[in-house]
Amino acid sequence: MSKTFLITGANRGIGLEMTRQAAMNGDQVIACARNIKEATDLVTLNKENEAITLISLDVTDENSMKQIAAEIQCKIDILVCNAGVLNGYGGLEDDAHHSQAIHAVLMTNIAGIFFTARSFLPHLVKKNSKSEEQSGAYGKIAIISSIMGSQKRAGSNAPIYRASKAAATNLARSLAIELAPRSIAVGAYHPGWVRTDMGGPSADVSPQESAAGLLARFDKLNIASTGIYESYSGEKLPF
Ligand SMILES: NC(=O)c1ccc[n+]([C@@H]2O[C@H](COP(=O)([O-])OP(=O)(O)OC[C@H]3O[C@@H](n4cnc5c(N)ncnc54)[C@H](OP(=O)(O)O)[C@@H]3O)[C@@H](O)[C@H]2O)c1
Repeated sequence: MSKTFLITGANRGIGLEMTRQAAMNGDQVIACARNIKEATDLVTLNKENEAITLISLDVTDENSMKQIAAEIQCKIDILVCNAGVLNGYGGLEDDAHHSQAIHAVLMTNIAGIFFTARSFLPHLVKKNSKSEEQSGAYGKIAIISSIMGSQKRAGSNAPIYRASKAAATNLARSLAIELAPRSIAVGAYHPGWVRTDMGGPSADVSPQESAAGLLARFDKLNIASTGIYESYSGEKLPF
């Protein structure tokens, strides 16, 4: 049965590829980008595919997100919190760790997930019909975190980004527990080291492979596995 995705940060990288593949699989995608005018690849993809709806959405702006959520009529099966920012791979003394950059990383990678989940939560709870409620067909939340946030894989670079991704995984765990009574499953995912603007050209996984793996993992997520932290290839990850 066709599903409806909402994907943040869908204009490039892993988000764009997840959008492309989900639409190719026959699913509906609400593809969000904070600057639609500059999202040329996404706009082109949208022209080729009626299953994709474009929405202008900045995950750090909760007020506008709530407004957008109020205007959307459809239910969401899989809410993908993908938007993310990395302020370089430097260490403690790197100039890239100035307060504005740190603010952007924390607001996007942590608060952005929280705002997205809170804004679109009403669309995940399927209360339109009694039969849907009884069938357990509830939406789920996929949070794109990173292995760089794992305490067991601590490293000497990008400390602010690492901390933000540790928090993203932690947020997934908290939301999993809070939303379990409402049958909404939540998972945290590491997409691999992916050849995107963020991952760089030397990364070992293509966006296509990462997106395909992630979509397959989201399909498997259910209330029995809620709170999971795993990679795009299904490897269970240490917190
Ligand atoms: N690539 C990797 O190796 C890797 C590894 C582990 C985890 N991840 C995670 O995977 C996710 C996707 O990464 P990627 O590699 O595809 O990165 P990317 O190519 O740099 O794309 C990041 C996306 O996030 C969007 N974004 C940033 N701030 C936003 C905001 N405030 N509101 C809405 N959208 C915003 C960007 O939009 P703009 O174009 O407007 O900036 C862009 O669409 C991120 O959460 C990242 O941390 C990536």
